[in-house]
Amino acid sequence: MGALSNAVPVGTPIPVMEASTPVQRRYGVLPMPSLEWTPEIERATAHLYAKVKDVIPAVEWPFFAPYVHAINRLKKERNAVILAHNYQTPEIFHCVADVVGDSLQLAREAAKVDADVIVQCGVHFMAETSKLLSPEKTVLIPDAKAGCSLASSITGADVRLLKQRYPGVPVVTYVNSSADVKAETDICCTSSNAVKVVESLGVDRVIFLPDEYLGKYVASQTKVKLILWKGHCEVHERFTGEELRAYRDADPSIEIIAHPECPPDVLAEADFTGSTAHMIDWVKTRRPAKVLMVTECSMASNVQAEVPDVNFIKPCNLCPHMKRITLPKILSALVNMSEEVVIDPAIAERARLPIERMIALRA
Ligand code: 13P
Ligand code: SF4
Repeated sequence: MGALSNAVPVGTPIPVMEASTPVQRRYGVLPMPSLEWTPEIERATAHLYAKVKDVIPAVEWPFFAPYVHAINRLKKERNAVILAHNYQTPEIFHCVADVVGDSLQLAREAAKVDADVIVQCGVHFMAETSKLLSPEKTVLIPDAKAGCSLASSITGADVRLLKQRYPGVPVVTYVNSSADVKAETDICCTSSNAVKVVESLGVDRVIFLPDEYLGKYVASQTKVKLILWKGHCEVHERFTGEELRAYRDADPSIEIIAHPECPPDVLAEADFTGSTAHMIDWVKTRRPAKVLMVTECSMASNVQAEVPDVNFIKPCNLCPHMKRITLPKILSALVNMSEEVVIDPAIAERARLPIERMIALRA
């Protein structure tokens, strides 16, 4: 089966816009490149197809390749880099991205990237994080409606109320949150470093926002008490412990690895729990014969392309927000310089600090 190719409406006409926004006037709008499948495109993209041949059928490549070729050419013309999250589809992840990773890796890269333009292939909070860390750069997101159920579960006003209720208790906020919420935060964390961040504060209690399940997982790993919010990831909350037990009963040799945004009964069934990057490292290092990745399903296709000897069992839960990002929209972003991520400077100044504190923790 194709690697979620039905989620990529290749062939959709891409309108070239009038240069009307400030960013379009500054950079100009480019002509739309040809999207024909030709022997030249086939030759020029053969090395990229070699990377994804195990997850994208040969019959589908002629639809993807002209976009891949055009995007890679326009990236150079715009002096742009593409940052892509591990949940992006394989033709984006392996064929047009310059940097791939989990939220923490992408944030670190955004802070040091050498380019005029960042195209964020991920969801809106990730693009905001890049803009906060690289305010002088133009940050584009191919679809500004790519949201996140965790980020939309809480507002800055909610955090202000919590701070009134628990005066003096520091606020640790998962990066899956809006700039508004980050502006009310002491320090951010990702699923890679949440325990370390919570313990770095040297206090016995923190307000941990907004992911209840990540918070419960962190609480199981530390003595620090966590005051939680009831935000959930709409992708990970759908998994159940019962479902995983059924997979294991059907094949006891299966290894199960899960993202900490999953509910506790799911994590109780897992052989390993970690961020998307930690899960990928685990598979690449351990090379299990059969693995079930309890997370968004594009990630299994991305890893499978690199480790074809591992058999991936895919209980496919798609993130509808991540799947808004497609090759045609990435091409449109580069042609039309859309959609620019803009953050109110007064919010940005306060929202940047907790992310910078998190990144500095490593040192
Ligand atoms: P990671 O930081 O583990 O990549 O998680 C981001 C995310 O949105 C998971 O749903
Ligand atoms: Fe948000 Fe969940 Fe989608 Fe990640 S997978 S972006 S947490 S809704």
